[in-house]
Amino acid sequence: MADKLIIFDTTLRDGEQSPGASMTREEKLRIARQLERLRVDVIEAGFAASSNGDFEAVKAIANQVRESTICSLARANDRDISRAAEALAGAERPRIHTFIATSALHMDKKLRMTPDQVFEQAKLSVRFARNLCADVEFSPEDGYRSDMDFLCRVLEAVIKEGATTLNIPDTVGYAVPELYGNFIRTLRERIPNSDQAIWSVHCHNDLGMAVANSLAGVMIGGARQVECTINGLGERAGNCSLEEVVMAVKTRRDYFKLEMGIDATQIVAASRMVSQTTGFVVQPNKAVVGANAFAHASGIHQDGVLKARDTYEIMRAEDVGWAANKIVLGKLSGRNAFKQRLQELGIALESEGEINAAFARFKDLADRKSEIFDEDILALVSDESVTREHEHYRLLSLAQHSETGERPQAAVVFAAGEIEHSTESDGNGPVDASLKAIESKVQSGAELVLYSVNAITSGSTESQGEVTVRLQLGGRVVNGVGADPDIVVASAKAYLAALNKLHANLERVAAQG
Ligand code: KIV
Ligand code: ZN
Repeated sequence: MADKLIIFDTTLRDGEQSPGASMTREEKLRIARQLERLRVDVIEAGFAASSNGDFEAVKAIANQVRESTICSLARANDRDISRAAEALAGAERPRIHTFIATSALHMDKKLRMTPDQVFEQAKLSVRFARNLCADVEFSPEDGYRSDMDFLCRVLEAVIKEGATTLNIPDTVGYAVPELYGNFIRTLRERIPNSDQAIWSVHCHNDLGMAVANSLAGVMIGGARQVECTINGLGERAGNCSLEEVVMAVKTRRDYFKLEMGIDATQIVAASRMVSQTTGFVVQPNKAVVGANAFAHASGIHQDGVLKARDTYEIMRAEDVGWAANKIVLGKLSGRNAFKQRLQELGIALESEGEINAAFARFKDLADRKSEIFDEDILALVSDESVTREHEHYRLLSLAQHSETGERPQAAVVFAAGEIEHSTESDGNGPVDASLKAIESKVQSGAELVLYSVNAITSGSTESQGEVTVRLQLGGRVVNGVGADPDIVVASAKAYLAALNKLHANLERVAAQG
């Protein structure tokens, strides 16, 4: 029988660390449910000790997601580890993932600890974690740039303390495939008790080689767990992309000879959910999940594909879930049909009030847009005014006027808590005028660092526009996403969503800081 490759998804932890990608508890729970449908083996749900919000998100996921192992990150200290164990108490299969840096650079400059102190701390932390949880993963942060002898000493000791998985991060994305693969192989060969743990790879994408490095860690090094994120979401150039690893191992089964538990038909839905929730748009030519990944535009290719698909296709679009892009509901659909589709999409709105609010939005949208796709429904429930009635800022109405040769004007009415504000401004365009109108009242002082518009469903100007707004204020970066058939309205919603995130106190500790 072929070996199993464990897929460990860290979208909700390492992915979420990407500036602007922070998610609410409800958003994380929705994505965790989709990861469960995708049948990932391990979901790293967060870093429980980093903030109360993260603690609550890990706890909610641990209590509600039953099929996957649920993991929380913890620095190598008793407080973090206890907090992780507490958040994971309701999990069917909990895992504590503890880490400490082992490279000379990180130990000296960041931790200001000697190698012997790090060695002791790693051992004690794994021992402490094992008393709270049977499944303990240990990561030597910046492992790939660590001294081999020292790393072997630390890893051998933590296996003796009971670590069940050893994860070797290429924290800064410095590795190249052959060297990283050999690095893992050398560790496994040199550590006497290496066969008592599962070996895992965790690669960042700074040189664009995270997937290649991870696969080399598997093939050359013998690792049997890959840590990855949906769409490769993550800090800087991101993490290893789950969909690319999964489809490489599936499509080239002849070479990898590995089994996975993944249901690949859920990949596109997961990709859309993550990009709609975070506002991190997927590039059109991205492998597997990009809009062009299966589009054969050139005449020669089209001709070939029509005659025999495998002339130019190595994977089938429907096998990764592209076929799911179909019209699902329309103007005449009732509340029950809508509720059922929410269930099929794995969206659990918490109260009847939320379902009613979402249904009212759906009706409103169906009046303006004849065909409603799954993506429209996802955008609709991502809308914070539906899922989070308690949001501080909410758009109430917007009017704008633009005419050739005239300066555009916008009038916006929005709520800030219980207070209703009416505001007006002119601007270079109607979007500029609307955002300036809001800012003139809120006076957040935030800098707009990104504005982007995308059609939610391709191929028609009837599509809803999905706008991402990224704001920066005092070192904090937040993304707001808004969707509407009118892109000026979508822009105002996105701006208010970003202001809501700035307004919420999202203090947290950085995992690598
Ligand atoms: O990249 C890294 O080193 C990490 C660790 C915390 C596992 O994400
Ligand atoms: Zn990482």
